[in-house]
Amino acid sequence: RPPEAAETAARGVHSPGRAAIAQRHLRLDRWWLPQVMTAAGLLLFIGYSTWRAFFGLHTSYAAPYVSPFYSPCLAANCPTMKGGADWALFGSWWQLSPALIVLIFPLGFRLTCYYYRKAYYRSFWSSPPACAVAEPHAKYTGETRLPLILQNVHRYFFYFAIPVAGILTWDAILGFRDAQGRWGHMGLGTLVLLVNIVLIWGYTASCHSCRHIVGGRLRHFSKHPVRYRMWTWVSKLNARHMQLAWASLFSVGLTDLYVYLLASGAFSDPRFF
Ligand code: FES
Repeated sequence: RPPEAAETAARGVHSPGRAAIAQRHLRLDRWWLPQVMTAAGLLLFIGYSTWRAFFGLHTSYAAPYVSPFYSPCLAANCPTMKGGADWALFGSWWQLSPALIVLIFPLGFRLTCYYYRKAYYRSFWSSPPACAVAEPHAKYTGETRLPLILQNVHRYFFYFAIPVAGILTWDAILGFRDAQGRWGHMGLGTLVLLVNIVLIWGYTASCHSCRHIVGGRLRHFSKHPVRYRMWTWVSKLNARHMQLAWASLFSVGLTDLYVYLLASGAFSDPRFF
């Protein structure tokens, strides 16, 4: 055996100090099922959101509702949103979909999220495939070098996620107007936008970086009662971070789908008052 092959074989679970177990793992359950479901869910969302981000501009707004993929609108080629977050910072030279400018922030936030990292490392890279299942790779460097060391920018994406969630909150409030801009309307779309923004705030507030920002680096909780109280709230949400990650991912996609169906004339928004 060439020396490099021997060296490779002696790494990881095959390194000299480890028990010599012939089987790849000893799990008897269907450990691969969550990984398959995770990959399917993520691919579904990636496929749908890519299609909408590139080709959804003209069905991104159905007064008074705007798709979360297209808000805030930072280019000049957006449909008119009276009172909405419509700032043509990029001017008319931007001819591509305006969603591409905005989606960088929520995409970066989710891509570097601690939960999604676990999810896609397992389901796409098998690194590791599951608990107590040895990974097939000979080498493991974790997130200690490029490009994965860049995952550390997550906390900065968290800072961007706050204004984005604030803007989507404003969009949900604007859902209480009718198509002419008069207040006092509520339709099914208003409810859809409200549920979506509650889930987005739940996901954002349950972020591990948020928990650290709120309650980290303190020597004595007793000297910081307000931060301690906030930390206990964030910690409770943090325990549900995975569920909130999935719920908010699907709610963003379904909210966009709802606006798309309204804008393309598939049906009219049922009105409560
Ligand atoms: Fe998931 Fe921050 S850890 S959003």
